[in-house]
Amino acid sequence: MKAANARVFRNYYRQRTANQWHKIEAEVGTPDAIRPFIAGNWKMNMIPKSGIALAARIFDQCRGIKDVDIGLAPPFTGLSILGEYIKPDFLRSEYGLGRNVFLLAQDTFFEYKGAFTGEISPEMLSAIGVDRVIIGHSDRRANLGKYFGFGSSVARRLTTSFLAHELEEQKAAKTRDEQVIAALEHLVGVKPEILAGMARFLEDELKERAGESDEAIHRKVKAALAQGLQVILCCGENWEARAAHETFHLLDRQIRIALEGVSPRTIKEVVIAYEPVWAVGEGAEPATPAQISEVHDFLRNLIMDLYGEQTAASIRILYGGNVKPDNVIEIMMLSGVDGVLVGGASLRAKDFSQIIRFGLD
Ligand code: PGA
Repeated sequence: MKAANARVFRNYYRQRTANQWHKIEAEVGTPDAIRPFIAGNWKMNMIPKSGIALAARIFDQCRGIKDVDIGLAPPFTGLSILGEYIKPDFLRSEYGLGRNVFLLAQDTFFEYKGAFTGEISPEMLSAIGVDRVIIGHSDRRANLGKYFGFGSSVARRLTTSFLAHELEEQKAAKTRDEQVIAALEHLVGVKPEILAGMARFLEDELKERAGESDEAIHRKVKAALAQGLQVILCCGENWEARAAHETFHLLDRQIRIALEGVSPRTIKEVVIAYEPVWAVGEGAEPATPAQISEVHDFLRNLIMDLYGEQTAASIRILYGGNVKPDNVIEIMMLSGVDGVLVGGASLRAKDFSQIIRFGLD
């Protein structure tokens, strides 16, 4: 399909509710690349048994839906058993669903194997039937510092006695780093209360921001694609970046670094999810339709710069951040939105199936 046609089709398809899409599909067939994609990220919720029960309730309320791609992302411990449960033949006979249900992992590591306690490789995921993997979610990009206390371990080192000890060690080292020595010499002379203030500043910064770097995310994207997994690449600005008008600059960096070296052939296996950090999670307000449209247009243009018009027309860009049954139709009808990544509401069968069925009820 030519890029221009894809655009026309895209608009035609979007201006209609899911109810009317069935007719459109019968007329012209829905190109896979622009089928809506509704994904539920269960985060750290659901033991395997409750995950299966939740999936069963969702499928029951989405009987016969074939033209919306549905993704379920349980925690690692639920992947295997859910993978067994969502076999296409069973879903077809039991719920009238097609091959439109996908098993998603919430993360992957980038190494193939080795001494990485607690990590899971892309190969391990595909061996248990995972189709797609979420990479760069803001819970991991931004919140790890909070969970793991990165800030306090750095702050503890900013005391005169620790720095003096470090200085001695550095001076005695076989390979001396003169720049580090000069900095330490300066810092041991700084008033303790200034050091304490700096320690608190750094602690807060790291708590707020430390998490997976753009480079780590890039390595994960490459490793997952090399394993044949599709990638749901999350990006999004925090509130400070938005307030400082740095949203586009930041998204540009996140996407360019993440996709560095991803070939025009493999980019087809990537879905982008725009998740403004400030709009994600309990109690936050979703982004407004205008904010979503503006960013989705920006991201599509960026993909056009990197991969050309045809790819830009066919790549799926999802929105995530407090998507609920009562706002999903408005969001899905925005011309640059190809689907949604849902957190909290995906844990409630009724809400998530209403989101999947958006416009059908
Ligand atoms: P939310 O989460 O829907 O609970 O805001 C979205 C996400 O984190 O993917």
